[in-house]
Amino acid sequence: MMQAIFLAIIGYLSGSIPFSYIIPKLKGIDIRKVGSGNVGGTNVLRNLGGVIGFTTMVLDGLKAFIPMLIAMKYFGLPKDETIIIGFFAAIGHSYSIFLGFKGGKAVACTVGTLTGIKGYFLPLFLAIWTPIVLITKYVSLGSIMSVAVMDVIVFFIAGKEAGLWILAFFLFTVFRHRENIARLIKGEERKTDLIAAFKN
Ligand code: G3P
Repeated sequence: MMQAIFLAIIGYLSGSIPFSYIIPKLKGIDIRKVGSGNVGGTNVLRNLGGVIGFTTMVLDGLKAFIPMLIAMKYFGLPKDETIIIGFFAAIGHSYSIFLGFKGGKAVACTVGTLTGIKGYFLPLFLAIWTPIVLITKYVSLGSIMSVAVMDVIVFFIAGKEAGLWILAFFLFTVFRHRENIARLIKGEERKTDLIAAFKN
């Protein structure tokens, strides 16, 4: 029990590091005041271009992946136990101690955790996410659908415990995207052109 609490704290503190806030701030932009106002890679991509946006997403993903890797490699923790770090990194990203308990929608941390479970889950996630976002231009839709599909894949490949954790990630993803979902239903969701973002 004490170990689980310790892992949760490590995950939360790592996830709290607000790269999506810090990087735009270095360019003089308060990400909370532009675009969707979300402190996340998608909003960075919209406002600062594809390269900076994706760099931010990678850094946000590493907040879950690196502590998971350290726990596995250097402390010999079983993979399933390290998922708690990834989950609390997602919580920290969304309710950052450094941003007054506000933050993003935690998709990058979810992807970082999936990568910690199996390295090839990263290209698999991208293989689902990229076409949905390119075709519909809705990042939120791509993210929600990709986490849902990945959950089924995790259940089959990584087992029940990991599958249940990713189910928790999926429910959290839906919760954090509740406003996006309402806009998607009304046809009012913000569109994001990934290709155009890389030309900026
Ligand atoms: O998962 C996509 C999410 O980051 C969407 O963000 O800025 O469109 O609310 P945003």
